[in-house]
Amino acid sequence: MADRLDISQRKKDHLALCAGDNVGFREKTALFEQCDLVHCALPEMHADEVDSRVELLGKTLAAPVVISAMTGGTDEAAKINKDLAQVADELGLAMGLGSQRAMFERPETAWTFEVRDRAPNLLLFGNLGLVQARKMSTAEIRKLCADVGADALCIHLNPAMEIVQPGGDRDFGGGLDLFRRLVSELGIPVIAKETGCGISRGVAQMIRSTGVEHFDVSGAGGTSWVAVEAHRAEDEEQKRLAQELWDWGIPTAASVLQLRGLGVKAIATGGLRTGSHVAKAVALGATAGGLAAPVLKAHRAGGIDGAREFLRGVITTVRSLMLLTGSRTVAELQRAQLMLGPDLARWQP
Ligand SMILES: Cc1cc2nc3c(=O)[nH]c(=O)nc-3n(C[C@H](O)[C@H](O)[C@H](O)COP(=O)(O)O)c2cc1C
Repeated sequence: MADRLDISQRKKDHLALCAGDNVGFREKTALFEQCDLVHCALPEMHADEVDSRVELLGKTLAAPVVISAMTGGTDEAAKINKDLAQVADELGLAMGLGSQRAMFERPETAWTFEVRDRAPNLLLFGNLGLVQARKMSTAEIRKLCADVGADALCIHLNPAMEIVQPGGDRDFGGGLDLFRRLVSELGIPVIAKETGCGISRGVAQMIRSTGVEHFDVSGAGGTSWVAVEAHRAEDEEQKRLAQELWDWGIPTAASVLQLRGLGVKAIATGGLRTGSHVAKAVALGATAGGLAAPVLKAHRAGGIDGAREFLRGVITTVRSLMLLTGSRTVAELQRAQLMLGPDLARWQP
């Protein structure tokens, strides 16, 4: 029981902390300021000819934008999931649910993850942590996905968060076996997702070898989960460690560059705050850009209308930058000319 209350309290703490201003990286950025799109003074097309649609996991998005995994398990989380799913469906975007561990351990909270009544066509991602999923059977995981109507499952990697979290996991073995098992048995695609520390080329290659083709790099520069845990830590040593590792991770733009040429599809999450960040992430090679905290903040400030308005703005900027780089399609934006600063260029494989 104490454990159950603990998960629910943790979810509430996470939402409150992430909606505030004290969980960002301190010195490190996502490095989008090290990436300039090159202006095209002669686009030779009407603005309406810009085609921002993109194929992802068997569905067509109206724009390359994902609302990244955030929450579930509480009444507040249910409202957020349902409102954001409705908006994502209306706008033709994709969305990830928060970790379904809560739903697995407390089946009575399953309704807080159920969004299909309000988002029947949405490209929807389920979500489980690697350390939890490892201990579940494929049938149990398949049921969690089927119960929410997920099109794909994100397996999130979060070793930095776990080691600074009070009571966090310490055993990170068996990950590749899990990916291999899910790719062959789950029946829906698997996405390997970090949670704010990025994915290196070497790790992507290892995971790719299990058959996983989709990655959400969720790199450094946006929400720092080590920072979230630094606020929650009570133990002095844990506090010290979290303070020291606050800025740990591979910047998001760098992580996208690291995955180039591996034949994988990347979603770039972590520190994307504007449509211009999304456009740059795509130009660096990502299929789509993901946003978590900024969507949460827009929803907190203005409810479903606030989230809709914010995301509309993101889409408008992406489409404008497609025109201004002479990119008629997202595939053309992926090939758009880029000028990289030295701090980003050094991550190029
Ligand atoms: C309130 C909140 C809860 C989150 N919960 C999860 C989660 O359950 N599973 C997961 O994979 N990522 C989770 N994340 C991480 C985000 O999906 C994302 O990778 C990270 O926040 C970086 O994006 P941002 O800088 O736009 O916030 C959460 C993020 C926030 C803000």
